Amino acid sequence: MQIIVSKYSGFCFGVKRAIDLTEKNLKKKTNIYSLGPLIHNRWVVSELSRKGLKVVKNLDRVKKGSCIIPSHGIDPSKIIPPKAGGKTISFINTTCPFVFKAQTLVKKLVNSGYEVLILGDKNHPEVKGLVGISKGKARVLGDEREAASLPAKKNKISLISQTTQSLENFIAVGSKLLGKKFREFRIFNTICKDVMERQAEARKIAKKADLILVIGGKNSANTKGLAQICRSFTKTHHIESERDLRKEWLRNVKRIGIVTGASTPGEFIGRVKRRIKEELN
Ligand code: F3S
Repeated sequence: MQIIVSKYSGFCFGVKRAIDLTEKNLKKKTNIYSLGPLIHNRWVVSELSRKGLKVVKNLDRVKKGSCIIPSHGIDPSKIIPPKAGGKTISFINTTCPFVFKAQTLVKKLVNSGYEVLILGDKNHPEVKGLVGISKGKARVLGDEREAASLPAKKNKISLISQTTQSLENFIAVGSKLLGKKFREFRIFNTICKDVMERQAEARKIAKKADLILVIGGKNSANTKGLAQICRSFTKTHHIESERDLRKEWLRNVKRIGIVTGASTPGEFIGRVKRRIKEELN
C-alpha cells in the first residue's frame, strides 16, 4: 500500500505564531486566559491548559490577569476590559496577520459606505469578529444560494471571505453577485494563501487516492473544508487522531492520501501512518 502525505502539513504560520506567543507568556506570567480555544485542536488546547492557560467564554469572572486573543480574532467589543469592579486585564493579541488584514478591510469598506458581504460561517469566531468590527453592519453569506436571494438594494457592495473558505465557493458566490448588477462591486480575496495551497494539494492527492484521511479538529473550519474537497473526488474520512481510524476502511485500498488542517500538529501524521501499518499486519 502506498501512503501519500500532503506537502502542506503541520501548523500554518498563524497557528504556530499564536502557540509560540502563548507559551512564551505562560513561562513568565500567571493568570493567563484565552477567550475561547486558542486554536481548533483539542490536543493542543489541553496541552496549553496543562501549562496553565485557562480557557474562558468571557471575562465576567476574571478580575486580573492577561487575556489571549486567539489566532482567528474576536469581536472587538469583547476586548475592552470592563472598567467597573476594579479589574486589571491586559491583552495579548495573537490574531493572525491575515485575519487582521480582513478585519482592516472590513473597517475601511464600512467607513467608505460599502455594504460588506462576508462569505463564511456566521457561527465561526473569525466571522463573528469581522461582523463585530463592522459594528453589526456586515452581512454573512454561506453559499451561492444565499447570494442569489440577496436583494440588489445597495449601489456599493463589497465581498470578502473568511480566511478558511474554499476558492470554489468564493468564486461561485462572487459570480452570483456579479449577476445582480450593483452599480459598484468590489471583491477582495481574503482566503489565506496557506489554506489555498492545502486545498490545491488535497485536490491533487484525492484525484489519485482510493482513500483520504483528513486529520484535524472536528471544529476546525479549514479541516472541514479540506474533507469536503476530498469527498468530491474519493472516499474520505475526517479523523481527529489515529484512534478514529477503522480497520475496515483499509480493505481493498491501494493508495491512501493523508491531508491535515492548519491547526493539526505535524506529529499526528506519523501516528496515523503507524496505526495504518499496525492494522495491515
Ligand atoms: Fe492565519 Fe491562514 Fe493560519 S489565516 S491562522 S495562516 S490558516
